[in-house]
Amino acid sequence: MIRPKCLLPVVVPLFAVACSQGAPSDAVTAGAADSIPAGQLARFTADGRLVRPEGWEGWVLAGTSMGLTYTEPTSTPAPGEPPGIFLNVYVQPWAYERFMESGEFPEGTMFVLAMAEPVRKADPARGGFYMGEISMMEVHLKRAGVHESGWGFYGFGGEDASAKLIPSEANCYSCHRDEAAYDQAFVQFYPKIRERLGLGSAAGDSAAVKTPAAPESGAFETES
Ligand code: HEC
Repeated sequence: MIRPKCLLPVVVPLFAVACSQGAPSDAVTAGAADSIPAGQLARFTADGRLVRPEGWEGWVLAGTSMGLTYTEPTSTPAPGEPPGIFLNVYVQPWAYERFMESGEFPEGTMFVLAMAEPVRKADPARGGFYMGEISMMEVHLKRAGVHESGWGFYGFGGEDASAKLIPSEANCYSCHRDEAAYDQAFVQFYPKIRERLGLGSAAGDSAAVKTPAAPESGAFETES
């Protein structure tokens, strides 16, 4: 299920505190980095924290969901109530382009998951919901060496300027490994991406899971 528990702003700082994992050596591949717009590069602080990506609101919107769950919900929303919060997933335009060409997520791909409370116009009362303020965001970064999956998770609450790698015991890694349809990412919920992979719109089952090729070399930037 999409356990908003794990997404709660309060949880990620705990991970951050518990996280003792250091950063991998910084793989800066000049050639690849040169061709990527600077604002779309994953950047790291000198001590290996991921710098909060900026401008992701203008990246490619891969998919949007609300109330997505893997288990029977324990309660059904009351009539007229939203089934959950808005989750919007963005990916860097360069990574999206490369993916569309090759069918592989390139090293350095960053997905941003942004969360917003559903808001209803109170007066005059009408149906429907729109996004309130974005309360927090999480990043899924493809980077060899951070974790056996080849991807790392990072959570940014409030105004956090940078975030530590979420430790490998966190259920982020196991749920994404077991339930995501392709290369640790929930592409089954991202219409154009699943179309590129030849997955149907009901491609949540394991029969549809595809295996990516081995990672290529990376493109990252470290602050001095
Ligand atoms: C029980 C399953 C589950 C767990 C645990 C989980 N996620 Fe996810 N995650 C999902 C689903 C489902 C989506 C697709 C969301 C959508 O389409 O809106 C997703 C999407 C994402 C994305 C967008 C990119 C992608 O990989 O598809 C990020 C970033 C993300 N999750 C971060 C996290 C972080 C950080 C944690 C741990 C703190 C976490 N997730 C734990 C189910 C899970």
